[in-house]
Amino acid sequence: MPHTPYYLIDKSKLLRNMEKIAYVREHSGAKALLALKCFATWSVFDFMSDYMDGTTSSSLHEVKLGRKKFGKETHAYSVAYADSEIDEVIENADKIIFNSISQLNRFADAASGIVRGLRLNPQVSSSSFDLADPARPFSRLGEWDVTKVEAVMDRISGFMIHNNCENADFDLFDKMLGDIETKFGTLLSRVEWVSLGGGIHFTGDNYPLDKFCARLKAFSEKYGVQVYLEPGEASITKSTTLEVTVLDTLFNGKNLAIVDSSIEAHMLDLLIYRETAKVEPNTGDHTYMICGKSCLAGDVFGEFNFENEIRVGDRVSIQDAAGYTMVKKNWFNGVGMPSIVIKELDGSERVVREFTFDDYVSSLS
Ligand SMILES: Cc1ncc(COP(=O)(O)O)c(C=O)c1O
Repeated sequence: MPHTPYYLIDKSKLLRNMEKIAYVREHSGAKALLALKCFATWSVFDFMSDYMDGTTSSSLHEVKLGRKKFGKETHAYSVAYADSEIDEVIENADKIIFNSISQLNRFADAASGIVRGLRLNPQVSSSSFDLADPARPFSRLGEWDVTKVEAVMDRISGFMIHNNCENADFDLFDKMLGDIETKFGTLLSRVEWVSLGGGIHFTGDNYPLDKFCARLKAFSEKYGVQVYLEPGEASITKSTTLEVTVLDTLFNGKNLAIVDSSIEAHMLDLLIYRETAKVEPNTGDHTYMICGKSCLAGDVFGEFNFENEIRVGDRVSIQDAAGYTMVKKNWFNGVGMPSIVIKELDGSERVVREFTFDDYVSSLS
């Protein structure tokens, strides 16, 4: 049994998402690229690459990782490229998507030999968090002025539009795609490919997959474009837990249990978006606040119900710990970094990475 804390990626759970992605590819004609910003744990890329078409990226490092570890089709995107990195980005990509017309123009010569696209911002989004809303006022994420985009159509053959965010509502997706068509229809029929980005929770329970496929297919046929999807969260949702052990218990008006992990170091997004972690089944008469071991006063995973009293040494599994989690882990407080363990389809568990004091030391100088 590996030492806690560790992230446990369960391939049989991952497979459920992969099969839905494969279904959508087959029935809609869309291609699916894993968004590495969400999940970049490359030990399972061999497994995932049987079900997906490649990767998309947000930086030079990610595009290199995608090419090296996932293979297949590799898209490069970044909010802004530096002069010093553009050549290496292009060397490692099949397509490059620029965030702005000025970057497209700046790197016109450097990128003349590669398929180029531009990010469009339809100024509508499904996000309920201003922080994560690509269409927020004064957003820097993509171009929205049709006249300006028309002037550079000779330089690009595709668009990327990412405006969904944790969107599990097909009707809302459908409506927003309609808004995109109204706004950018004339441009869409002049390109060969359109990426609709990520943020669509189509691998979730009860998502109307057939309606989704039909909508994508109709869009693709109407404009004569190859559609791409960039699922991050949808690829890995509910596949991974963070396994932790209780180190201490206290009663301070509430029952507290301190575990060998930290929300700030190991599940940072929960803190950023002020959400609580998930523990299942979350039933029983014993309520505990599960707390991290960093010095941050608010290092709290959440309050959960348990069947039994919690004791030092008990194991707790924090659910849904893959997306925007392992890619954001950090060395705050020098808290021991969770190992990475893969549960194979036959149920066996394999430790693929352990982190040591030397890793902590080499993260700084
Ligand atoms: C351009 C782009 N593509 C894909 C994604 C992946 O989104 P998600 O993980 O919500 O599917 C994001 C997330 O921010 C993104 O910005």
